[in-house]
Amino acid sequence: MYVTKVKLTNFRNYKNAEVELSPGVNLLHGSNGQGKTNLVEAINFFASLSSHRVAGYTPLIQQGEQSAIVSLELAHLERELLLEFEINNDSPNRARLNKSPVQKPKDILGYLNSVIFAPEDLDIVKRDPTNRRAFIDQLIVQFTPRMLGVYSDYDRVLKQRNTLLKSARATGTKGDSLSTLSAWDESLVKLGSEIIAARVAIASKLSPGLIANYQKIADTNNEPRMFIKSSILGSTILDGEEADDSEYLESQDREEIAELFREKLMRMRPKELERGITLVGPHRDDLVLILGSLPAKGYASHGESWSYALSLRLASLEILRQESKLGDPILILDDVFAELDSDRRAKLAELVLGNEQVIITAAVIEDVPHALSAKRFSVVAGEITNG
Ligand SMILES: Nc1ncnc2c1ncn2[C@@H]1O[C@H](COP(=O)(O)OP(=O)(O)OP(=O)(O)O)[C@@H](O)[C@H]1O
Ligand SMILES: [Mg+2]
Repeated sequence: MYVTKVKLTNFRNYKNAEVELSPGVNLLHGSNGQGKTNLVEAINFFASLSSHRVAGYTPLIQQGEQSAIVSLELAHLERELLLEFEINNDSPNRARLNKSPVQKPKDILGYLNSVIFAPEDLDIVKRDPTNRRAFIDQLIVQFTPRMLGVYSDYDRVLKQRNTLLKSARATGTKGDSLSTLSAWDESLVKLGSEIIAARVAIASKLSPGLIANYQKIADTNNEPRMFIKSSILGSTILDGEEADDSEYLESQDREEIAELFREKLMRMRPKELERGITLVGPHRDDLVLILGSLPAKGYASHGESWSYALSLRLASLEILRQESKLGDPILILDDVFAELDSDRRAKLAELVLGNEQVIITAAVIEDVPHALSAKRFSVVAGEITNG
């Protein structure tokens, strides 16, 4: 699959812009702050209906405007598709497929697969669990668009359950509030178990590619491994303080996960009532990344962290490609060559060259290996021109 045309209206720093892309390698170049990342963010948005760099939609709308429109033309074999998304500040977002409105915005998912690798991906390895959850959850949504609804239902249930716990803490726990809590527990467990099972499944699917790519890029014997560390097991993670037990979840069975979840909720109930928040569930879990015998976070070197993050993305590309009915996912490399030494630049170039479409951004053209320079675009202050 490849993108043939992108049109942006009031998206980030673009007032009105249009660009025609080609299969193969496309290189967007321009100085810092001109709109290169904004353009690839708009393309990648259609993979999971989220931005790879911010939560929420407001920052995507041009400052001072009320709505933004992104439209993409895609080609796959003989087929052409037009995807449009309207992000609105004060009214619901809307999506259109081949000019016809779809019932729900999320019905536009499943037509574009993409993988973006960017300097921010170092955060997946080095920073807090939120970054790792966002990585794995966005990938899950690409595989199973229906999961977007599960995530938003879970967030809603979580908020309501927290409100209830807070008020139970304030008013004491007698009477109705405990039975209402039990009703919320069931929804939390049902939706949460689905999320947890999906995370365990995708982590195990990613593992072989993670190992293979890491060894290609980093040339070491250190093996990367990843696990889901879940709050439904053992002791829990409190306020960022990690529990000292090292139990990782291996089951992908929703019933089994639900059972563990339920039991843990019962055990944590006094503590939840005392604290007034939900302490068990996928929102407290982590995707633990190990390198050799140590956690990557806090131990891996800068170069190792880079190789780790890149291997996670390349492994994502491979599993999406294996299951996609739409050919290769679009591969986006945002500003990554500047960070790599010449040896790693050449290796990365080799690894990505065969992909159906690759979109590269760079502030300095010379940083991009010669083999990859194909169709070029210059980006200046929200304007895109050929060359
Ligand atoms: N909602 C918005 N409204 C208006 N301008 C915005 C909005 N969001 C971001 N911008 C502006 O877009 C500009 C370009 O951002 P972008 O991240 O695309 O730059 P870039 O070309 O990738 O630069 P770099 O080479 O430094 O990565 C920034 O100056 C930023 O202030
Ligand atoms: Mg950028």
